[in-house]
Amino acid sequence: MKPLSIKTKITVWYTGLIVLILCIILGILAFSTDRVLVFELQRELEDEVYDIVEDIQYVDGTFDFQKLKYFDDGISISIYNKEQIQIKGLLPSGFSSSVPLYNNQIQTIQSGEVHWLVYDLYVSTNWPEALWIRGVVSLNASYETRTYILLVCVILFPFLALLAAFGGWLITQKAFQPVSLIRKTAADIESSGDLSKRIQLSGSKDEIDDLAQTFDHMLDQLELSFQKERQFTSDASHELRTPLSVILAHTEYGLIQRDNPVETVDALQVIQQQTKKMMALVSSLLLLARTDHQSAQLDFETVNLSEIANMVIDELTLTAQSKNITIHTAIEDNLIIVADQTSIMRLLLNLLQNAIRYGRQNGWIKVELHQLKEDVLGSIEDNGIGIASDNLPQIWNRFYQVDPSRKSVEDTGAGLGLSIVKWIIESHGGQISVESLPGQGTLFRFSLPNRPRHHTDSNM
Ligand SMILES: Nc1ncnc2c1ncn2[C@@H]1O[C@H](COP(=O)(O)OP(=O)(O)OP(=O)(O)O)[C@@H](O)[C@H]1O
Ligand SMILES: [Mg+2]
Repeated sequence: MKPLSIKTKITVWYTGLIVLILCIILGILAFSTDRVLVFELQRELEDEVYDIVEDIQYVDGTFDFQKLKYFDDGISISIYNKEQIQIKGLLPSGFSSSVPLYNNQIQTIQSGEVHWLVYDLYVSTNWPEALWIRGVVSLNASYETRTYILLVCVILFPFLALLAAFGGWLITQKAFQPVSLIRKTAADIESSGDLSKRIQLSGSKDEIDDLAQTFDHMLDQLELSFQKERQFTSDASHELRTPLSVILAHTEYGLIQRDNPVETVDALQVIQQQTKKMMALVSSLLLLARTDHQSAQLDFETVNLSEIANMVIDELTLTAQSKNITIHTAIEDNLIIVADQTSIMRLLLNLLQNAIRYGRQNGWIKVELHQLKEDVLGSIEDNGIGIASDNLPQIWNRFYQVDPSRKSVEDTGAGLGLSIVKWIIESHGGQISVESLPGQGTLFRFSLPNRPRHHTDSNM
């Protein structure tokens, strides 16, 4: 059996509840109208009989019944002497005159189709002679009223239940419309693979609207990350193609020149250099892929930043000398931070490599590191080619290079260094900024907390 939809379930529940409430109301009415109406009639009957007592006069040894009304408000009054013989008044037609009198008691008498309410009062103290006063009223009018009320209810209640069911169904139908829209959008995306589709509800600001907005927002993020992923794959393949073509070309050349050892060695050297470059590129790509999936493991330990900085500078001195660049340092001793050593080395290496790569022949580089409160502040400055202000915001993007043609062929990077630098800094809870003037030089400033603060998972 097909499971019931939430719409149907709500409507059935709601209608069932209304029907139950209506049945309870009907039950209460059937049970209580009778009592209320009879009770009310009983009170009227007693009042009427008591009023009659007031109206009877005893003048000159006889009763004066002139003021009496023997029929009022449906109540018939009859007067009996103390021997219970009727002396005045009237009994309603169909009411038996042989019904015995009981003082101060209400009796319900049935004769034929008619029910009667009878009240008798024996009055012995008001006049020299005692009298019985009897009031009789038909109960049928009350019973008819009750039947009428119940009949109206029985006819009206199914209509009310139907109305409630229809209204409930309309409301749930309207409330669930956005849900169908959400389901339809999801199905559309699934069948077409088009992530640009959105639900875009009217903005009623209710819970479902919130859900749709969250869904749209999630689709935005998903679309963006798919775009990034595609871009990343295409850029990565592009970057890998260049060294691979060089390797292929030199392998072919080496094979042709296999009898010429000098040419073969040259070719092998180029192949070696390109392979190293590819290894560096692949390791950068791997790191970036891991940061994307938040699986990059940082091994936090206490490290001496001053020592690491000096080590990195030593390692790059030869490269700097090849361009006759002098490295000036102002590094405070024993700057201790809790950090991932490999990442910190990579951070300094990338920044220094850039300073050399984009530095000027016979130029200089200044490296400074010092403690300020709970952070180590660092700066790496060069007097190289600089970066135009228009390009500055983009340098942190993956694969971005201001002008790839301005580097020598054997020293081409992939434009990944700074995006890795930014991720390392942020994952340690620090900050980095850049100032640069084309033709004059570039200054990178960064801060690294002594103890890593909770970092935001930034995507480069
Ligand atoms: N010190 C600097 N002086 C001038 N331009 C710079 C400097 N540092 C970075 N840039 C510019 O920013 C771009 C991005 O730098 P990034 O380090 O990310 O990539 P790359 O050095 O080109 O390649 P990779 O670092 O992956 O080997 C560089 O291509 C360069 O144009
Ligand atoms: Mg670089």
